[in-house]
Amino acid sequence: MARRFLPILASQLLIFFFMSSFSTTPVTGEDGGFARRLDRKLLGLKKEKLSHFRFYWHDIVSGSNPSAVLVVPPASNTSTAFGLVTMIDDPLTLGPKLSSKLVGKAQGFYASASQQELGLLMVMNFAFLEGKYNGSSITILGRNAVFSAVREMPVIGGSGLFRFARGYVQASTHSADFKTGDAVVEYNVYVFHY
Ligand SMILES: *[C@@H]1O[C@H](CO)[C@@H](O)[C@H](O)[C@H]1NC(C)=O
Ligand SMILES: *[C@@H]1O[C@H](CO)[C@@H](O)[C@H](O)[C@H]1NC(C)=O
Repeated sequence: MARRFLPILASQLLIFFFMSSFSTTPVTGEDGGFARRLDRKLLGLKKEKLSHFRFYWHDIVSGSNPSAVLVVPPASNTSTAFGLVTMIDDPLTLGPKLSSKLVGKAQGFYASASQQELGLLMVMNFAFLEGKYNGSSITILGRNAVFSAVREMPVIGGSGLFRFARGYVQASTHSADFKTGDAVVEYNVYVFHY
């Protein structure tokens, strides 16, 4: 009895392993035309590089031609301006002077997201204009406690030369005019990209 069952059991096991090996095999071919594995060379992705960029971010809220505009006033009367949203198209320059070479624009917004201190949520794209980086961008999303000496924020992605980008930025205030609200901030960007 047992001897007659054994071959049946063995063949069932074989089928079982055959089926389960199918389900754990990664998708190599097509999956109903919806998803497929791709050789990274087909996208022109060679060796991953680490780059460092340094420039100055100009937040101009005063005067007749501001680069930063308040779009949502603070929700309540708090010292941290909690709820404020400011839209920016801030120049990024090589040196700390606004008249120095323009290398890009910081486009996005910052919002006051802390009730305890001045802590901003930064959501911005650095749209580069300089040399081979012209037309490429990186995206920053992070927390900016503006009175800290160095604020670190993640680079969460990018476009063009910065496809698959990841990294971080360090921001430190170069100068701030408390009368006008204008500020110049040094940005150091460390980013992995192809
Ligand atoms: C905001 O708070 C300050 C200090 O408590 C008060 O003097 C001022 O009137 C308040 N402003 C508004 C718009 O509520
Ligand atoms: C950047 O690219 C734009 C659009 O192609 C072009 O008009 C502009 O002159 C370029 N700027 C630099 C500095 O190369």
